[in-house]
Amino acid sequence: MRAVFGSKREVYVSRLEAEHLYKVFGKRPDQAVRKLENGVGRDELRADGTTAAVIDASFTVEPGQIFVVMGLSGSGKSTLLRMLNGLLEPTAGRVLFDGQDLTTLSPRDLRAVRSTKISMVFQHFALFPHRSVLENAGYGLEVQGVARAERERRAAEALELCGLAGWEKSWPDELSGGMQQRVGLARALATDADLLLMDESFSALDPLIRRDMQDQLLELQKTLKKTIVFITHDLNEAMRLGDRIAVMRDGRIVQLGTAEDILVTPANDYVASFTQDVDRSRVLTAGAIMADPETAFGTRTDGGKELRDAQDVIAAAPAVVSADAPIIELFTPCSASGVAVAVTDDDGELIGVVPRARLLAVLGEPMKPEIPAQSPQGGVTAADGAAAGKEVAAHA
Ligand SMILES: Nc1ncnc2c1ncn2[C@@H]1O[C@H](COP(=O)(O)OP(=O)(O)OP(=O)(O)O)[C@@H](O)[C@H]1O
Ligand SMILES: [Mg+2]
Repeated sequence: MRAVFGSKREVYVSRLEAEHLYKVFGKRPDQAVRKLENGVGRDELRADGTTAAVIDASFTVEPGQIFVVMGLSGSGKSTLLRMLNGLLEPTAGRVLFDGQDLTTLSPRDLRAVRSTKISMVFQHFALFPHRSVLENAGYGLEVQGVARAERERRAAEALELCGLAGWEKSWPDELSGGMQQRVGLARALATDADLLLMDESFSALDPLIRRDMQDQLLELQKTLKKTIVFITHDLNEAMRLGDRIAVMRDGRIVQLGTAEDILVTPANDYVASFTQDVDRSRVLTAGAIMADPETAFGTRTDGGKELRDAQDVIAAAPAVVSADAPIIELFTPCSASGVAVAVTDDDGELIGVVPRARLLAVLGEPMKPEIPAQSPQGGVTAADGAAAGKEVAAHA
């Protein structure tokens, strides 16, 4: 869907936006929201039997992005997801999907949006045991009232996408857990919904199969370009899949950013504790840690030659890499030479340098954020909105 703005420039409308979403369970929820806005904590509310499951969540997911929500059990992830598809009504705030405010739709219109535009994949995908794999994959289409022939064609296509061609006539109990989960994914894909909501969809799988499913999702996403919200407990999964990651704690989003943001400048100790076991050398990229090219001007090669400009830096560098190179690729060159590694763009222009010292520093303690990424309440600041705006511009 496109919208025309004052400048007559066409831009894509964001697929999914959450604006100051709250969900409070229990007595007098509206009053609880006002208390939360005034700084009353979740624990205080719990004392009188009220649970603030989601507190002031705001974010934008652009078309084609995988947005990961991560956090410990009880942090509010599933509640947040259920508000995104209208299964739960927010206590306060709005959910905009393609510019349409889901919170104002009639139950009938909401059901229509849910059955045609949004698909959910759960952790334990409940397949119908007495229906074939094909019938299970076509279930979402059946609910939409799509005729049998068309349904079977689209279900078979979705099964093929998920690597299950040839299994159409089988029964669910003839499939392994991983294959059953693929049927669940196929069911979600068959409906052509733009928005996929995935709640711990791969968490019940063995590690190897889980990795396989992650690969498959990334592969599918290259061509399907769905808008995906993916919930997980697992930071490695979050980092592999997420274009952007929201970390939730006690109902609040405490950090929102790329995998690199979260690794390099965790917003607080809670976020940092998640990242302890991550292999930074494979997640961080040259682009994320590089310094300004000019910092290399005036330095000397091991042979004593002064590097005066970009040309000199590139010529002397022990390696020239692109911004998306994982930093593990920089260690060998850096160990062989004291000169910084050069980072260039697609046109071969120097965009940054990685000196040996910087490479070593990022593997140590996480860096302290230079600008506080959080508001005092732990919400996300306008900087996030600005970043999202840039992404919109990039899509336009
Ligand atoms: N229907 C409900 N009524 C009352 N409280 C609820 C309800 N649903 C969720 N909660 C509470 O809201 C909080 C957040 O729950 P939620 O299920 O969203 O967490 P989660 O992050 O998905 O956890 P998990 O990782 O265990 O699935 C919890 O304290 C939970 O007990
Ligand atoms: Mg949950």
